[in-house]
Order: sequence, then structure tokens, then C-alpha cells
Amino acid sequence: METIKGMKRTHNCASLTADTIGQKVVLMGWVLRRRDHGGLIFIDLRDRYGITQLVFEPETAPEVHEKAHALRSEYVMAVRGEVRRRPEGMENPKLKTGMIEVLCTELRILNTSRTPVFPLDEEIDVAETNRLHYRYLDLRRPQMVANLTLRHIVCQAMREYLNARDFLEIETPMLTRSTPEGARDYLVPSRVNPGCFYALPQSPQLYKQILMISGMERYYQIVRCFRDEDLRADRQPEFTQLDMEMSFVEEEDVIELIEGLIRHIFQKGLDKAVSTPFPRLTYQEAMERFGTDRPDLRFGMELCNLTGIAKACNFTVFRTAAESGGLVKAINAKSMGDLSRKEIDELTEFAVSLGAKGLAWVKMKEDGSWQSPIAKFFTQDEIASINEILNAKPNDILFFGADQAAVVNKVLGELRLELARRRNLLSKDELKFLWVTDFPLLEFDTEAGRYVAVHHPFTSPKEEDIPLLESDPGRVRARAYDLVLNGIEVGGGSIRIHLPQLQKRLFELLAITNEEAQEKFGFLIDALEFGAPPHGGIAFGLDRLVMLMAGVSTIRDVIAFPKTQKAQCLLTNAPSRVSHTQLAELYIKPGWI
Ligand code: AMO
Ligand code: AMP
Repeated sequence: METIKGMKRTHNCASLTADTIGQKVVLMGWVLRRRDHGGLIFIDLRDRYGITQLVFEPETAPEVHEKAHALRSEYVMAVRGEVRRRPEGMENPKLKTGMIEVLCTELRILNTSRTPVFPLDEEIDVAETNRLHYRYLDLRRPQMVANLTLRHIVCQAMREYLNARDFLEIETPMLTRSTPEGARDYLVPSRVNPGCFYALPQSPQLYKQILMISGMERYYQIVRCFRDEDLRADRQPEFTQLDMEMSFVEEEDVIELIEGLIRHIFQKGLDKAVSTPFPRLTYQEAMERFGTDRPDLRFGMELCNLTGIAKACNFTVFRTAAESGGLVKAINAKSMGDLSRKEIDELTEFAVSLGAKGLAWVKMKEDGSWQSPIAKFFTQDEIASINEILNAKPNDILFFGADQAAVVNKVLGELRLELARRRNLLSKDELKFLWVTDFPLLEFDTEAGRYVAVHHPFTSPKEEDIPLLESDPGRVRARAYDLVLNGIEVGGGSIRIHLPQLQKRLFELLAITNEEAQEKFGFLIDALEFGAPPHGGIAFGLDRLVMLMAGVSTIRDVIAFPKTQKAQCLLTNAPSRVSHTQLAELYIKPGWI
């Protein structure tokens, strides 16, 4: 194989435009394609930056032309040549370098390649398992290069913005104690402390609070977090947060800073202007109007409450739900009255799979009357009121949910999204940001028979709700805020508890015994007793944010080496079995053999 000795790259494969015609250049990269045409050999040469067309002519340099016959896809090569205008009619306006080609006078083949297992042209759909197994090939594709470049630019922009505002970037440990964020921990056995385990951090939550108590005032970190939970398209077992914390702040300070940060990264990453302030909804309003705490605001189809009318109506399903403390709600799918019976059946199945007992529907006729299996149960007046509440017009279709609040909200919230997907109402170019605030601090876990923290146990209750901690803990609102973009939670945070007494009281309410609190969080309570400033912060899911910015549908496409739904790395085959000797060193007995 040849070397690049004495050869210096002068340009990359995206940099040669019409004004470089006549220049002598050196390019290095990979063979994307080779085409032989009437004695000429054309190579599309690719590097990280783009593609440039090379030409080998028998008349110009016969030996070089002869050698070029050996080139195959993904061979690594270096060439020297002269930039010339492409013959008329041969220009490619889709390429930055589409006006020119390089007539080569020297060729060095630096490495060969096995035939790539899938074509690297970006238009071609390749099975994801193959892409992950041969990730180094997949990452050569322009789309993946663009995604990782965007991720890099976003991280740089985050650092730039926060550095300019006096934040310190501080690293916190990966081998640590469990931090409760609601998922299972990944554990790491300690060889030198038999029987003891570290937990990989679910987030740097406790350390960042300790940093505030340490007087650092403003901290951030772009940090890996680990959560052993069931995976979805927007979840990975290890993912990256932009994590931040500030002292002497209230909700408004955090929100304002973050809106500026978002404007900055969209400007830098996509050259897109984001308008602020973002709208805000309380948790309660979000649940009422959208059935979820992360509503997608790119379309309407809001949930309307019909419980009042339902209580007095003759349709037993609705009346029973309304009378037994449940809800009856409906959505109006505007102009979707053309949905077929088959489609309605599919939507009913979808609703049932989410826990609904059925899915009542009404098609609006031209005269405002109902075509529906349930029309017979309603009086003209009731129909008129429901039409009015839902703003129902001819050719609309209405869908109803009647059940306990949690079921109705979940089913109609998801149905709303499903209908929007079916009718292509979800444009990737539209950015609908939203803050959701006033989350409940606690929720009652009926299985465990106790309250659990909705966010995490360090979130502060609202000042005015503190008395409710004693009388009605379920109604206490948290000083928490989530940032939602197009129906995806991209960030979440809160103002924290900084008074030790209140933190202890919270642990009690969460049925964390004194000993347990001391054992798990004793260091935090101790620290709170040494002059903790009021503080708060937020963490963003970097992968989710970049996924939405890149307009792709899974975070795996913006992570260089992601894991599968089964938490495996197909490139390295992690996780893997380890030897008994290794286990013995860690005082672990293999239980599975
Ligand atoms: P939270 O648990 O809400 O808050 O996490 C913050 C953000 O991280 C992202 N995220 C994930 N992204 C990919 N895969 C996952 N498995 C995953 N889990 C979470 C989400 C989420 O909004 N310590 C607190 C923050 C704080 O209070 O300051 C925390 O971790 O986008
Ligand atoms: P039924 O009288 O049970 O045949 O129901 C009449 C219509 O109401 C059918 O379209 C059912 O799918 C629907 N339905 C039944 N239960 C519910 C419910 N809990 N919420 C919404 N619709 C329902």
C-alpha cells in the first residue's frame, strides 16, 4: 500500500468551486463511486465535508489512468490534479462542487476496503441492526456526519452562552451513590470494598446541589447519565444532559436564562430565529386541555370536558362514568368526517390498547345532526350543547372518552396525536415550545401505599402550599418546570429545598425513614445545615434536543454509538459475559450457571 509521504492535503471535498478553476490541488478521501465512460474514469471522492468528482484521462497521465482501474468503493486514496470546469451540460447543481472536476495527474491508493455491506448513498434505507453493527460505515453517510456536526455545534453554543454568563463547567463523579430520578440504577461492584457497589449517576442532581452549597453559584456540565429503564425511540440507557444549577434564583430567572439559551443554540445550530417568551401552561391546564403534561401545540384538537352534560344524559356509559367521579371528554377531529369504518375500528382498537373500554364517535352531518351509534341516547338540546362546546361543524368527527380521569386523558391525548400523525399535521419545521409549570409535588403510589416524588425529593413545594404538606399532601404544587418542544419533554428542573427542616419533612412524607434518609442522603442534610443558599436549576436532554433540531425521529440518529431497545451495543457486543476469575475478584458468585 502507498503512503501519503510528501503529499499535503490542500482542500477538502466540499471546498472547490468555480473560482478555484486552474488551481493545482491535493485531495484525500474515500471512493464513493467509480464510473468508466468511453475511456475516462470518474471517481466521486468523499470526505467528511462533501464530494468532488475526479477524472482520469488516458491522454493526460496514462499510468495514473491505468492504476485508477483498481479503485473500488470505499478504497482510501490521495490525488494530485488540476481543477477544471465541467463540460457544458455536465454540471451538478446539487453539489457544492458541482461546477468543477479535478483532472488527476497523481494517484496513491492508501488502503483497500471490503465491499461495503450497504450502500453509503444517503437516500437508501438500511436496516438499523446493520447500521449499528457496522456503525463506522453508517457514520460515513452524509446525514450522520451532519447530525454529529449539529450536535457538536449545539454543545459549543451551549458552552459559549453559559461561559459568557459566568457559569463554571465542573465535572462530577461517575462512580457514585444512587441519585433517585425514578429509574433503576446501573451498579458497579467495588473490588477493594467487598460487597459494596457504586451506582452510575442517573443525574448529577445531588452533586450540583452540593456545588451550590459550596458557593460555586453557577455550574453547568454536559454530562452522561445512566438509567436502567425500558427503552423507547427517545430514551437510551446512557444519554447526555446539559445540567445546570444556580444560586440566589427563582423560577423566572431560570426560565429567562433558558429562553435565551434556546434562542442562541437554534441561531447557531440551524440559523433559525426562535421567538420568546415561550407560552406557559400549568400542569392542570395541560392535563385538562391536552390530556398530557407534554402537549404538542403544533395543532389544536383540544380535549373538551362534557362531564356536566353527561351526568344528566341517557347514555349509561357516559352517565355512570360522570356519576362515579370520572370524566367524560371529547375531541373534535376537524374535517375528518371522511374516516372510514375500518379506520374508526382501528382507532377504537388503539384506544382500547391504551385502557379505554370503547370509543364512542359522532360524524357531523350537513344539517348539524349526528350520524352515530350513540345519537339515539341524546336529546336535541344535548346535541346542540355538545356541538357548541366542541365547535362541531359538518364533516367533523367527534371522539368521546368516558372513564376515570387518568384513562380518559391518556386515551384522548394519545388519540389526538394519532389523528394528527394520520393527517400529517406534524411538520418537523414548526417549533412549538412550551413551559409546563405547577406540577404536583407528590403523587400517591397505590401499589406502594405511599407518596412518591413526581420530580425528585429535592424539589421545593410552593411557599403558599407548604401548610398542605400536613393536611393534603397530594394537592401541594411543586416549584418545578418542564420545557416541552413539539410534544417531547426536552428539559426539566425546579427550585430546590434549601432548608434542612423542610427536606427532612419531605423525606418523612415520602416514607423514607430517618435512618434511611441518613444513610442515603445524610451528606445532603448535613450540607444543608451549613448555610445552603436558595438555589435551583434544570437539565436538558441533549440527545432529544438535537434529534428535534435535526428533524430525525430517534435519538439513536444523533448519538455516535447508541444502544438497541435491548440496551446492547451491536458494534462491540456489550454487555457480555465475564470470566469467573473476574467475578471472583469482585466477590460475585455467578448465579446464572
Ligand atoms: P429529568 O429526569 O427530567 O431531570 O431529566 C432531564 C432531561 O433528560 C432527558 N432524559 C433522557 N433522555 C434520553 N434518554 C433517557 N433515558 C432520558 N431520561 C431523561 C429528558 C429530560 O427532560 N436532575 C433533574 C434535573 C433537575 O432537576 O435539574 C433530572 O435529571 O429530556
Ligand atoms: P355500547 O353501548 O357499549 O355498545 O357502546 C356504544 C359506543 O360507545 C361504542 O362505540 C363504544 O365503543 C363506546 N363506548 C363504550 N364504552 C365507552 C367508554 N368508556 N368511553 C367512550 N366510549 C365508550
